[in-house]
Amino acid sequence: MPFALETETSLNLDHAGICAWLKETDPAALERLWAEADQVRAAHVGDAVHLRGLIEASSHCIQNCLYCGLRAPSEGLDRYRMDVGEILACALEARRLGYGSVVIQAGEDPGLTRDHIASAVRIIKQHTPLAVTLSLGERCDEDLRAWREAGADRYLLRFETSDPVLYRRIHPGLPGVASDRLAQLERMRAMGYEIGTGVMVGIPGQTWDILAADILRFRDFDMDMIGVGPFLPSPRTPLGRPEAAALRATPGDQVPNDELTTLKVVALTRLVCPDANIPSTTALATLDRAHGRELALLRGANVIMPNVTPVEYRARYEIYPGKACIHETANACQGCLQGRIQALGRRMGKGPGGRQKADSEMSGSSDLHH
Ligand code: 5AD
Ligand code: SF4
Ligand code: FES
Repeated sequence: MPFALETETSLNLDHAGICAWLKETDPAALERLWAEADQVRAAHVGDAVHLRGLIEASSHCIQNCLYCGLRAPSEGLDRYRMDVGEILACALEARRLGYGSVVIQAGEDPGLTRDHIASAVRIIKQHTPLAVTLSLGERCDEDLRAWREAGADRYLLRFETSDPVLYRRIHPGLPGVASDRLAQLERMRAMGYEIGTGVMVGIPGQTWDILAADILRFRDFDMDMIGVGPFLPSPRTPLGRPEAAALRATPGDQVPNDELTTLKVVALTRLVCPDANIPSTTALATLDRAHGRELALLRGANVIMPNVTPVEYRARYEIYPGKACIHETANACQGCLQGRIQALGRRMGKGPGGRQKADSEMSGSSDLHH
C-alpha cells in the first residue's frame, strides 16, 4: 500500500458522488472541488508543468469515427504524411525549445508502416534524450512491440466512452474487426509502455452516468496519463451536423460540451488518479482561448502538449475547426506558454516527465524533490 498523503480527498467519489459533483452548480461547493484538486495535484505531482511537443505526423485515416474531421469519408482534405526526416526535424525543434518529450500523433494510417515509425523512434532516440509517446490508434501487437523495441516509451489511446452501445455508435470501426481499446491498453502496459487514455466531454448521447463511469474507469485501470477535452463539433462529420440532435440524450441527462463541465472532469480525474499525468488539452484552450489552459492547470492538470508541427501542415490536420494556437510558430507558442505558466507561480518541467507513482516517490526520484 503506497503511503497516504494527508491531502487525500475527503470528498465522496463513488459513482453517485461523482455524478453529483458533475452536476454541481453552487459556486461555493465548486470552489471546494477546485481547491481539493489543486492541493492533490501539488502534493502528488508538484508544480512542474511538463511540456510535450505534439507532432501531427499524418492526417490519413482509415477509420470512420462520427466525431472526427479526419475520418476516411471526409472529402476536400489535403492529406499529408511526414517522412522520417520531417518527424525528426519536429523532435529537434521540441528539444531546442526545452521540451522533455514528444508525442507522435496521427490518424489510423497504415501508410505509417511498422518500419516507418520504428525508424522515426530510433532516430529521435539517437539524436535526443526525449521521451517518445506514440498516438497512432489501434495497431497490431507486432507493430506495438517493434516500436517499443525501437525505444518508444508511452502510448496514448483514448477509449472515448466506457459505454459499449455509445462507443459502437460513434466509432463504427472497420468491417469484421472488433475494437477493444482497453484490451490494447492492457497489452501495451504488459509490453512496458506507460499508457494514456481519455474521453471527450459532451458527445451526443453521453449521460452523467456514463461520464461518471468513465472517470471511475481511469482509476480502476490505473492509467498513467489521462486527457479529457470538450467535444467540438466539426461540420465535416455526422456528429457536427444538425441531425446529430436526434442522438442526444434527454435534456436532463445529456452532458453539455462546455468548459465548466470539462474542468469538473479534470478536477475529479485528479482526485481519483492523484499521481497521473493530466494535460490541459488543446480542445479546452479552443473553447476558451484566454483562460482555458490556465484554468485546467489550476484545477488538476500538470501537462501541456504544444504543437511543434510545421505551420503549413497544421491546417490540414483538422480534427475540429478553430483549433487554438494553429497559426503560432512553435517558438511563439513556447514563449506564450512560458509566460502563462510563470504567471500561475508554476514552472516548466525538466526532463521526460514520466509518471512518478506514489511508492516510487519515496525513493526520491520525483521532480517534487528537485
Ligand atoms: N472534438 C474534440 N475532440 C475530438 N477528438 C476527435 N474528434 C474530436 C472533436 N470533434 C479527440 C478524440 C481522439 C483525439 C485524438 O481527439 O478523443 O481520441
Ligand atoms: Fe481517425 Fe482518430 Fe479521427 Fe477516429 S479519431 S477518425 S481514428 S483520426
Ligand atoms: Fe500557444 Fe499561446 S499557448 S500561442
